[in-house]
Amino acid sequence: MGRQPWTGSLSQVEVVVRVFLSGPMGSGKSTVAKLVAERLGLRAVDLDAEIERRADKPIPQIFADEGERAFRTLERAVAAELAQADGIVVALGGGTVAHRETRRALLRAGLVITLDAHIDELVARVGQGQGRPLLAGADVRARLQEVLEERAGWYAECHARIATSGKPPEQVASEVEAVCRRRPIVVPLLERTYRVEVGAGLRNELPAQLARLTSTGSALIVSDQTVGPLWADAIGHAVSGSLKQLAQVRIPPGEEHKGIRTVESIWDAALEAALDRGSAFLGVGGGVVGDLTGFAAATFLRGVPVGHVPTTLLAMVDSAVGGKTGFDTRHGKNLVGAFHQPSFVVCDTDVLSTLPPREVRAGFAEVVKSAWIAGEHAVAALERDRAALLAGDMAATTAAIRMAVELKAQVVTEDEREGDYRAVLNLGHTVGHGIEAAADYTGFLHGEAVALGMVAAFRLARRFGDATAEHAERMTRLLAGIGLPTDLDAALTPKALSFLGSDKKRRGASLTLVLPAAPGEVALRKVPLADVVAALST
Ligand SMILES: NC(=O)c1ccc[n+]([C@@H]2O[C@H](COP(=O)([O-])OP(=O)(O)OC[C@H]3O[C@@H](n4cnc5c(N)ncnc54)[C@H](O)[C@@H]3O)[C@@H](O)[C@H]2O)c1
Ligand SMILES: [Zn+2]
Repeated sequence: MGRQPWTGSLSQVEVVVRVFLSGPMGSGKSTVAKLVAERLGLRAVDLDAEIERRADKPIPQIFADEGERAFRTLERAVAAELAQADGIVVALGGGTVAHRETRRALLRAGLVITLDAHIDELVARVGQGQGRPLLAGADVRARLQEVLEERAGWYAECHARIATSGKPPEQVASEVEAVCRRRPIVVPLLERTYRVEVGAGLRNELPAQLARLTSTGSALIVSDQTVGPLWADAIGHAVSGSLKQLAQVRIPPGEEHKGIRTVESIWDAALEAALDRGSAFLGVGGGVVGDLTGFAAATFLRGVPVGHVPTTLLAMVDSAVGGKTGFDTRHGKNLVGAFHQPSFVVCDTDVLSTLPPREVRAGFAEVVKSAWIAGEHAVAALERDRAALLAGDMAATTAAIRMAVELKAQVVTEDEREGDYRAVLNLGHTVGHGIEAAADYTGFLHGEAVALGMVAAFRLARRFGDATAEHAERMTRLLAGIGLPTDLDAALTPKALSFLGSDKKRRGASLTLVLPAAPGEVALRKVPLADVVAALST
């Protein structure tokens, strides 16, 4: 009955130790790899050369003697090894990323950067295709075109794409180096791949990013009346210079306005400004603004791209990433919506300076949740940093946000539309929602209720899962250390328990519980509702 859907670990390390250059043959990967390695003090490795060394013959010979399949098997094995090696810049083969597992392993192991080039330039660089078995005997341009089309989604799954046409290799190397410094987090979804960036002052780059998102130079910025004067007005002012047309709308703040009327006001603002299908939406605000902007973008003219600038900690670590959008109805929260992945997410940590401290602490509940799903090193890092986090230290906060975003990115990649796997992210939410609802959504902030819900999850996991008293105490200590409530019995009123039966994740008379044990060990299990209530009441 018990299931272990996630025993994940986050392999993206604090300092970049592996860079993988991807892209078609002739895009300059090997030359640039050498330059980047020199600059960063790393070792340059050419994957094809490494394969030749091991096979002790040139690649065309491997193809001739053993066929492409044997070559690919060898390529995968060598790539998997390099994903474990430290301090390297690897020029991948043009087709290395065709293999899903290899591609995803490289994305987890380091930074994957795709070098793009115009087809004319590629044709000029590869000549007649000598030494390149995939081009042998073919019309080189037509074959390259075919290869590019076939690989479009695979090349799109990367931390950054760099256009190399007309640029000297030194310049491309500088751009690679800049990506290494920024360390974007990638959500790899083939052509819908996007990146999340976390750092101070990143809003200054929105003009360029938004301009890239719209094909007609027009955009709509959605914010709320609180965040507007604090942050969105200045962002609007800054981006207007790089656009032909900018419309703006400010919605009233708060969950009580997360309804169809507000969605309609966003559609109306876009329609009144006569925005077209080439325009883009930008949401600047907390989770409410993000969910509504995402939904409005998913439906406006049957869908336009959206970028998110989350301004609450919760929105940065949770709602802005993953593509769930929607709104509340009188029947409940988030009951109507759509999946619509953003095209970028910019987490400018400066915006947290105006967020009330209670909202910041509440956001940390989701961070603790993510850390427990991610594993021991993530939990240990939060334990180490908890005083710094509570004091608002930005380096610690940025690291915590990155950890949570990386986890969410990994889970979303595995299970974009919430089959069982993505459900691990509901840790603490089943009871948390009951506690929130029983207090009419005014007594507790969402994160506070989730903190209590995680205490409840450990109580349930001791009864139905593998948690020990030590695991439960460790979670409680961490939550309390970050200033979150942990007095479950005070919050767990009969009314809160009665809401468990109406949880939307319920199927029949059972609840699917997310049961944590040690960090990194989180299982899903279906348990009869009556047993859940009994276990919580003891
Ligand atoms: N889509 C998803 O996957 C997902 C995941 C989790 C939560 N959510 C949704 O997110 C919403 C909660 O988001 P939230 O916690 O960000 O609440 P929120 O959007 O209501 O923001 C909280 C309050 O803080 C204010 N605010 C926002 N940024 C500020 C800033 N920088 N400075 C000062 N004030 C600021 C807002 O005006 C608001 O009053 C819920 O509706 C929930 O359903 C969605
Ligand atoms: Zn939540």
